[in-house]
Amino acid sequence: LPLLLSWGVIGYLLGSIPFGMVIARAMGLGNLRQIGSGNIGATNVLRTGNKAAAAATLLLDGAKGAVAVLLARALAAEDAAQLAGVMAFIGHVYPVWLGFRGGKGVATFLGLVLALAWPVGLALCATWLVAAVLGRISSLAALAAAASSTFWLTLLGHGHAFFLGVAVTLLVFWTHRTNIARLRAGTEPKIGQK
Ligand code: G3P
Repeated sequence: LPLLLSWGVIGYLLGSIPFGMVIARAMGLGNLRQIGSGNIGATNVLRTGNKAAAAATLLLDGAKGAVAVLLARALAAEDAAQLAGVMAFIGHVYPVWLGFRGGKGVATFLGLVLALAWPVGLALCATWLVAAVLGRISSLAALAAAASSTFWLTLLGHGHAFFLGVAVTLLVFWTHRTNIARLRAGTEPKIGQK
């Protein structure tokens, strides 16, 4: 058990690296808290107008979830990989370095699921993409992908993770609560808009 717990801590620490904030600061794009939604994720980095910085944020925030899973799987076992992945997500949303005020977890969620069960990860990415192309709103695409997760888990033979899917979906809806309010008010900006 202590070994399992230490993979939870490693996952959390990996997930808590706020790549968006680090990249935006390093590239002189300003403080993300004062831009757009104030979020530290790729969608908000894109609002600075720098597409490369947004792409790098998306990839690195996704990679930290995947690395947590792959590292724990290689050095420990599958239960450690699952815990490390979920804790990377928690680390991104509640990072100790930012007073537990982190991001919304979408890229990290996609990354960790890709590493845990790549068919489910691909299905979630495809759901995000289709919803993004149709609606052109990042948060709406994220909510659609999260809401579809239990469907894909069941369909693709990972029914044992059904309640984990429910829990993560609820957390993604919670981290998007201000987005949901804007969606309902019709004021949520399209991708790339300020
Ligand atoms: O992944 C975050 C995205 O769904 C919403 O980001 O900046 O529009 O709140 P943002």
